[in-house]
Amino acid sequence: MTTDGSNRWDARLYDDRHAFVWRSAASLVELLAPQRGERILDVGCGTGHLTAQLAAAGAEAVGIDASATMIEEARRNHPGAQFFVADARDYRADEPFDAVFSNAALHWVRPPEAAVRTIHSALRPGGRFVAEFGGCGNVARVVAALRRLQGEFFPTAAIPDWYFPSVAEYASLLEAAGLETREAWLFDRPTPLEGNDGLRSWARMFATDAVAAVDTNRAEEFFSRLEAELRSELFRDGGWFADYRRLRITAVRIK
Ligand code: BEZ
Repeated sequence: MTTDGSNRWDARLYDDRHAFVWRSAASLVELLAPQRGERILDVGCGTGHLTAQLAAAGAEAVGIDASATMIEEARRNHPGAQFFVADARDYRADEPFDAVFSNAALHWVRPPEAAVRTIHSALRPGGRFVAEFGGCGNVARVVAALRRLQGEFFPTAAIPDWYFPSVAEYASLLEAAGLETREAWLFDRPTPLEGNDGLRSWARMFATDAVAAVDTNRAEEFFSRLEAELRSELFRDGGWFADYRRLRITAVRIK
């Protein structure tokens, strides 16, 4: 689920507590409509569950991820697909793909132009690109709360500089690289975080460096403050919801 090594990943925690990342992507796979015999590249495949679904549809599915631990887990779980450790900014395929697919990964890649160049170069002319990731405003409340606590709890560590573009911005990037946007959606998807400690677990999983920089003696205080900051906005019906906004896009390589 990463594409450039910008987070330290715990593949087991990812699968145990954050399976919603790939489970919520069933309709994205439907939008891709993988066909038997097609070659499909899954960029930022994480532990490979979606790549395996593409393979199960009869496609020759290749998953890449910058995290060696994610790829190790993907290979262990899904022998039917091929997996490689590779950075989305500079991966170059030996043979072109009919489609490039990506779920919840491209917001980790900077500069985004480099990932778009990789996607373009991986596709045959006429090949399609189907992706979903964080769009503008994604996790804005969580990020704002982390920023408010940064000075006090982790002044020397960074909150990840995620890339959450608007439809117009991303369509322009694709167009500049030779891809024509066919459909695009930006929509809210409040996402349930499993368990009473769902927000803590999310922060540990995805803002790893920031959380790791908190003094261990003050970790409980930090998480309590984070929850207090966000409870009125993101806790309802007995559970935590992350304020996800998705950018979903389909495009075709035209040049
Ligand atoms: C997302 O899928 O939107 C996301 C996941 C982790 C960190 C930031 C965003």
